[in-house]
Amino acid sequence: MKLQSIKGMNDITPVNSGAWKIAENLLIKILDGYGYQQIRLPIMEKTAVFERSIGDVTDIVQKEMYTFEDRNGDSLTLRPEGTAGCVRAILQHGLLNQQNRKFWYIGPMFRHERPQKGRYRQFHQIGVEVFDLEGPDIDSELIMMTAKMWEVLELTDLRLEINTLGTVENRKKYSRELFNYFSSHREKLDADSINRLERNPMRILDSKNPALRELIDEAPRLDQCLDADSQRHFDKLCEILSKANIAFSVNPHLVRGLDYYSNTVFEWVTDRLGAQGTVCAGGRYDGLVELLGGKPTCAVGFAMGLERLIELCAQRLNRENRDAPDIYIISTREDHVAEVMLYAESIRNVAPDWRVICHCGGGSIKSQLRKADRSEAALAIIFGEQEFTDGTVTIKPLRNQAKQFTIEQSKSIAALKSFIR
Ligand code: HAM
Repeated sequence: MKLQSIKGMNDITPVNSGAWKIAENLLIKILDGYGYQQIRLPIMEKTAVFERSIGDVTDIVQKEMYTFEDRNGDSLTLRPEGTAGCVRAILQHGLLNQQNRKFWYIGPMFRHERPQKGRYRQFHQIGVEVFDLEGPDIDSELIMMTAKMWEVLELTDLRLEINTLGTVENRKKYSRELFNYFSSHREKLDADSINRLERNPMRILDSKNPALRELIDEAPRLDQCLDADSQRHFDKLCEILSKANIAFSVNPHLVRGLDYYSNTVFEWVTDRLGAQGTVCAGGRYDGLVELLGGKPTCAVGFAMGLERLIELCAQRLNRENRDAPDIYIISTREDHVAEVMLYAESIRNVAPDWRVICHCGGGSIKSQLRKADRSEAALAIIFGEQEFTDGTVTIKPLRNQAKQFTIEQSKSIAALKSFIR
């Protein structure tokens, strides 16, 4: 029996890897352009890094982490997200003391969720984390930068939802009010919400159960518990976004599934992916650095799910992907393999941007030409009997009616330049 990949963990084959490469390059170019620096992080951390950060009563920590004991008996976890490990790393390396405190990362994350379209057990994120900037200017920069990303990916139908969760104190006060409210309607709650009521009543607002819609709509609102600074921060953010012509809606039920957030939270959502419509999400987490052992330091960030984003634009990006070779080199004489290989290298040396395939595996000239044609190469370069004797090559255009011609090897590369771009 053929072995299969793990459920919810997908291969990205060449059918789509071109689209992934283009999308990643476009996004990374924007991150570089805004002055963010890459940080490369391990895919595993000590379990405590996530338990302390994400909150031990969240779904992620309670139900979804890939946690195991290694051979030393240490509890390790495959990262379910990048923020916690990033904070651990910037504290470990003292990066809060450097001038630039804006970082990005890319890579796989792991959550043991029920797999469905857009929801996987291994998925990929590009994430951004910024430290020690407390104003709404940086919140708006992150949102404007993501808007620019959708522009270059030509995604026009993403909606921005924002909310503020206020300070830790505001949240505590609000949680108490919600607890009292939902407790007085306990008989209407489903099992999941009763569980959330005891642990984190704000998460009930996030429930997707339509039977709870009305109850949730009538729940007390967080803005009644906001302090003046948090309200000002949020108002200013809304003002900057409006001036930047970024459309948004304020969603008072947007609370996020991780415990570390405070003040600004936001999500970019699409209707094109069914239930898994959030393609990018983030917010401020002003208490987390201290929680992981650092000095009190505010922070803000986001992460986007690459599977979801690329699903939205794969068709177009695949069309743009230029995989076809420029040149396919074939030869008739196996005893002259070295000469042909060195000729291919000499082309690659002078024109490193060209795609040059050197046919391997022998075969008749006819079958090699067929393979050259199927590769969709622009040109075939043929080393036949005569060419080996004369020190020439034959250049055969494959994609148009132009005639083939034979030319001295030493002059051939200059001649190729007039054919390729
Ligand atoms: P998150 O909302 O858990 O936030 O995930 C961010 C994004 O990752 C989601 O909006 C979604 O696009 C993608 N994603 C999450 N789970 C899955 C899954 N099972 N399958 C496919 N895609 C998924 C965080 O991870 C925070 N660390 C974001 C952040 C950074 N906040 C501040 N800084």
